[in-house]
Amino acid sequence: MNELLLKVDVQGSTPGSYPIHITDNYAGLAEILNGMGARLVFISQKGLDKILERFFTETGLPRDSIYLLEQGESNKHISRLADVYNWLIKNRIDRKTILVAIGGGVVGDFVGFVAATVLRGVRFVQVPTTLLAAVDSSVGGKVAVNVDHGKNMVGAFYHPQIVYCNVSMFQSLPDAEWACGFAEIVKHCCMERSGRDLDFLESNLAKVRAPEVLIQVVRDSAAFKASIVSEDPKETGLRSILNLGHTTAHALESITEYKKFSHGHAVSRGLVTALLLSHEKCGLPGEFVDRILRLMKNLGLPMDTCGFEASDLFEHMKFDKKNSGDTIRFVLLEGQGRPVYGIPMSRGEFELAWAEQKRRYG
Ligand SMILES: NC(=O)c1ccc[n+]([C@@H]2O[C@H](COP(=O)([O-])OP(=O)(O)OC[C@H]3O[C@@H](n4cnc5c(N)ncnc54)[C@H](O)[C@@H]3O)[C@@H](O)[C@H]2O)c1
Repeated sequence: MNELLLKVDVQGSTPGSYPIHITDNYAGLAEILNGMGARLVFISQKGLDKILERFFTETGLPRDSIYLLEQGESNKHISRLADVYNWLIKNRIDRKTILVAIGGGVVGDFVGFVAATVLRGVRFVQVPTTLLAAVDSSVGGKVAVNVDHGKNMVGAFYHPQIVYCNVSMFQSLPDAEWACGFAEIVKHCCMERSGRDLDFLESNLAKVRAPEVLIQVVRDSAAFKASIVSEDPKETGLRSILNLGHTTAHALESITEYKKFSHGHAVSRGLVTALLLSHEKCGLPGEFVDRILRLMKNLGLPMDTCGFEASDLFEHMKFDKKNSGDTIRFVLLEGQGRPVYGIPMSRGEFELAWAEQKRRYG
């Protein structure tokens, strides 16, 4: 069986560690879930019929308890919680029941929050079906819902019992969703110290969507995130390096009221800005910047500025929950595998980098 197992050590809400299985099938999942000796309740999303059909056929698990969330980020909303809580209680779950989240980051974040809160906490399992969920949202225990005035504003640190990722499910993802996942993967590659993840990704670009390559790419990326989360589970310091590219990304999302950019597409553009700023402010070598920008282009990632003014974006950065006071702080790179966080940024510095990004990519 083509399977890789990762152990994530976590403190906090679910002490201990849990495995992340990265494989190209669901063959081993039923045994693991049945071995947990508890009732399983599945939560997924409308529109994922083919994914669910494959999941239940390959695992042979009974399809009798399943709740389907409506499609889209707008449904990862606090207002959707009452319906699922009522459904779960009506379906007589108890403290031993395990919720199984099948879907992308929207489903994973939402179900994780439900699991953290219903009956004061039940166990849950993540079955990520998007590339982004596999390398990012399913790793690290951040679960959340959105409120009217902000994304992920109500949440918890609450870890799953296991994560089980079948990379062959990604084949049905639209190009835009692949790009979202690859933006986070490139981000992780920039910060991974040995440089091996970046080398592997670059040298396998031609067949990067093939399951045999993806298994390794997803494994590397999830392992990198897991290593950071293990050191700083509650984001009191080091974990904030995972926000490389995110200061600009959050501004792009907030200025467009979360309607224009998916998170990954905003991160991709923000990563370009972070690389240019890192070159100017932290001495990140130009060759490395060019290497990453070339890789992003080859992966089809969006890198343009979309006509937004640097000064408007800078204003929006002040609303970011990760900034305190009026100082805008960035995660930057001093070199390959050498991220630094909490770097104060002036409006002028940001404007120069944004202008350079506009000059290069429009
Ligand atoms: N918890 C964290 O640490 C963390 C980190 C990053 C992002 N997030 C959250 O993750 C969410 C974004 O996740 P996402 O990018 O997976 O988006 P998503 O969950 O909305 O999925 C994207 C789209 O792909 C569809 N889809 C899912 N699997 C598919 C498949 N195999 N084939 C075809 N279509 C499929 C979904 O139905 C959806 O329409 C955001 O809410 C973001 O806030 C959380």
